[in-house]
Amino acid sequence: MKNIDKESLEKAFHLFESGDIEKIEIGTTKGLKQIHNYLFSGLYDFAGKIRTKNISKGGFRFANALYLNEILPKIEEMPESNFEEIIAKYVEMNIAHPFMEGNGRTMRIWLDMILKTKLQKLVNWQFVDKSLYLQAMERSPINDLELRTLLQINLTDKINDRTIIFKGIEQSYYYEGYEKEDDNE
Ligand SMILES: Nc1ncnc2c1ncn2[C@@H]1O[C@H](COP(=O)(O)OP(=O)(O)O)[C@@H](O)[C@H]1O
Ligand SMILES: [Mg+2]
Repeated sequence: MKNIDKESLEKAFHLFESGDIEKIEIGTTKGLKQIHNYLFSGLYDFAGKIRTKNISKGGFRFANALYLNEILPKIEEMPESNFEEIIAKYVEMNIAHPFMEGNGRTMRIWLDMILKTKLQKLVNWQFVDKSLYLQAMERSPINDLELRTLLQINLTDKINDRTIIFKGIEQSYYYEGYEKEDDNE
């Protein structure tokens, strides 16, 4: 793991340890930016900032930077009343991919906060296999069934269990650490 990722991992732990997570807005772009800023401030100059360049990964082009200001308010308004709707919203936010880097780690925390508030559940990420998850994410812009199934079987109602939260954060950084090379344009 690169140094920057190690430092960010510490910040992610601190977000929960300190209780600062309680101050983050749920399900909004502002909340997403707050998490990103928390994880990456002092590490990336674009911490908490919406990207202005176009990016792609594994041949998939994320939303055009020119339209992010139009798209993000629409995603924010998407409903969150059941699991299916929450995953659909998460998938749209992933397609937007609003930051230059750190979208995955930021968005998994953002997703968990929605699930916790609306459904009193969390994803037990420690049991979500890395390659199955990344495959499901790659597939999700076309069809989110695979992702929905994978996350649904790994939901837990132990929303205040620190071990589940901290192992989940570690797993989220593990997905990133071994990820294939980004092909940014
Ligand atoms: N081909 C793809 N199509 C859609 N989403 C993808 C694709 N590849 C990766 N992802 C998603 O993007 C995330 C990585 O985005 P990135 O900005 O690098 O975040 P991080 O640095 O936190 O991993 C992955 O965790 C996955 O959720
Ligand atoms: Mg990355």
